[in-house]
Amino acid sequence: MNAPDTLKQAGGLDIERLRSDFPILKLQVKGKPLVYLDNAASSQMPRQVLDRWVRYQTTEHSNIHRAVHYLSEKATAEYEVARKKVQAFINAKEDREVIFTSGTTEAINLVAHGYGRKFIGRDDEIVLTTLEHHSNIVPWQMVAEEKGAKIRVVPINDRGELIVEDYLKLLGPRTKIVCVGHVSNALGTVNPVREMIEAAHAKGIPVLLDGAQAAPHLQVDVQALDCDFYAFSGHKMFGPTGIGILYGKAEWLEKMQPYKGSGDMILSVTFEKTTYAPIPAKFEAGTPPIAAAITLGAAVDYIHSIGLSRIHSRETELLDYATDRVNRLPGVRIIGTAEKKAAVLSFVVDGVHPHDVGTLLNEEGVAVRTGHHCTQPVMQRFGIPATSRASFAFYNTHAEVDVLVAGIQKVQKVFG
Ligand SMILES: Cc1ncc(COP(=O)(O)O)c(C=O)c1O
Repeated sequence: MNAPDTLKQAGGLDIERLRSDFPILKLQVKGKPLVYLDNAASSQMPRQVLDRWVRYQTTEHSNIHRAVHYLSEKATAEYEVARKKVQAFINAKEDREVIFTSGTTEAINLVAHGYGRKFIGRDDEIVLTTLEHHSNIVPWQMVAEEKGAKIRVVPINDRGELIVEDYLKLLGPRTKIVCVGHVSNALGTVNPVREMIEAAHAKGIPVLLDGAQAAPHLQVDVQALDCDFYAFSGHKMFGPTGIGILYGKAEWLEKMQPYKGSGDMILSVTFEKTTYAPIPAKFEAGTPPIAAAITLGAAVDYIHSIGLSRIHSRETELLDYATDRVNRLPGVRIIGTAEKKAAVLSFVVDGVHPHDVGTLLNEEGVAVRTGHHCTQPVMQRFGIPATSRASFAFYNTHAEVDVLVAGIQKVQKVFG
């Protein structure tokens, strides 16, 4: 199977033209063309998105919400336009349900503190899954420790899929929240979140979805999912670092305590008492990452210009091709073979530490991530210290997959 990137095979996308939007993809590394397969960690920014950042900084920048002069009003308006773009992107009912954070990590911490501290008590239970990124484990452990609550964990099978029957058994009268990744960053598993949310809601339990690995790849509709919270990061969806989103149902956000205090999040302050601003301002203390938020709006526009369904089919095609090619390599094992997967291919090469795999692939210009991917419980489940992970974006090509495969074969020769 050798698949050139013809228009037809690329799901109607003109990949060469789209690649030309991304200046960084022209880089040479070690004298070879860069093959960027680390998109699950951070994707690259197209010129259209970079241009938005420059336009903001050169013609619109000032602090928001604080003045009546032209630039402050312009920056405020553009910041709120970006919020509306994100609202439409995830189909939130209201724009005040969209909170700008610094990333998924901050979004989850916000819920852990704002919801957890208020609604979780001694002997209550927090349901997580084996697949979670550390950022959806550690904040909950902190709450559990402080409150005397317990963490319950949904196991996975050998393919890296959640065992739903076990999940259902974990939901009980003491369960105060379910926190689950929409898509696993280590294995690519797409979790049955709709079904999981329905089961939790039947018992009155709210659900937080970590959408860091879903938002760039799948159509996310928070109303159809009916999740209570949804967290994701700008830098994984062709936007900048330092910006992320917490979606929360207004009814929850209104009940929650802010966990950062400052200007911008208050209605009035006296030394006796402070009253908080309505949502979303209540959770956006201090000067927010204005440029990054506006630029994230441009990343949303860019994704729309291609279409998430076309992005998804393109990435599925790349993943299938890569899976087939890597499966044919003797001595290489794919970790994570779920029936429903997003664009992640984790693998181990017999007798070679993933760190060495990554280092030698780098010599070929290939960027993969090696390590535990902030999912040590997943590695423990598979009895391995680490994997090498190739993760795809729509701009990757079949030829790049071929370079990856040739690189793995070279690694095997060196260590053979
Ligand atoms: C599934 C998942 N959750 C959370 C995070 C944390 O995202 P950030 O570092 O942007 O806050 C990541 C980042 O890799 C992730 O893949």
